[in-house]
Amino acid sequence: MQVKSFLATVAVAACFTSSAFAQAPIVIKFSHVVATDTPKGQAAARFKQLAEKATNGRVKVEVYPNSQLYKDKEELEALQLGAVQMLAPSLAKFGPLGVKEFEVFDLPYIFPTKQALYNVTEGPIGRSLLKKLEPKGITGLAYWDNGFKVMSANKPLNTPTDFRGLKMRIQSSKVLDAQMRALGANPQVLAFSEVYQALQTGVVDGTENPPSNMYTQKMHEVQKYGTLSNHGYLGYAVIVNKKFWDGLPADIRTALEGAMRETTTYEKAISQRDNDLALEAMKKSGRTQFTTLNAQQQAEWKKALLPVQKQMESRIGADLINAINKEGVK
Ligand code: LMR
Repeated sequence: MQVKSFLATVAVAACFTSSAFAQAPIVIKFSHVVATDTPKGQAAARFKQLAEKATNGRVKVEVYPNSQLYKDKEELEALQLGAVQMLAPSLAKFGPLGVKEFEVFDLPYIFPTKQALYNVTEGPIGRSLLKKLEPKGITGLAYWDNGFKVMSANKPLNTPTDFRGLKMRIQSSKVLDAQMRALGANPQVLAFSEVYQALQTGVVDGTENPPSNMYTQKMHEVQKYGTLSNHGYLGYAVIVNKKFWDGLPADIRTALEGAMRETTTYEKAISQRDNDLALEAMKKSGRTQFTTLNAQQQAEWKKALLPVQKQMESRIGADLINAINKEGVK
């Protein structure tokens, strides 16, 4: 009798365990540092929706926005360790990982238009850059767009001389460091989650970001002036832990690749509009006064900043810089 009930218990337990295994979804933790109502935040939410649908719920995507789980540098370490499976760091944040070539996206005036950017991100140059992540245990899936950056501070920034001596927050990119130095400013690397407070308390005087980030982090409340200088670009690479990705069942990986393609199309379609709306909202708030540069001022900015392209050749590679510049004149 005892043996019989023991066997029955084992059978029930085995049944329960196997069905629990059969149903346990594959979890993708997707961590990012921006607000949910930015182009990246909305795309992460859309990917969750599309991925879960395409896999009939066999994959569950948990999105952690706003540096809730990790800040900039920590999130890359967490991905490599497998604590999270997916990220979309800005292209300015891959240098510390040892993939300096991504800093090419930070070069002043490297993309004269969005089309020049797409020629790179949707072509062979973009693909070969993503390949460089593999030895780091990372697979690159896509590029997501944000926009051209606005310079901001509590004084007008019309000419390079206006930057002299200002402490400017930058992302962890040597190109951005060189850019700020070329303007006579003192660059300071800070995690994105710390920028608002640093601006508010005067730890730094100014910064740069596309309008969508500036607005959703409320930087316009603590920056009196913004210059629509279009001097530089901010975008993202969507990346996954390679071991995790390679270990997925093939049908799941194919479904997720499809969901990522669809999300990327969506993201590209909303990014400009989102930035336009954010700029409008900031203008309406009256907290920040935005200016555009006249032809003379634009020439002065270019004179100060274009030499950074040459200066960074030894770090990034002259061939890569030249190849990207060629995409801009196609
Ligand atoms: C920043 O750190 O300034 C931005 O790159 C944050 C982001 O991911 O958009």
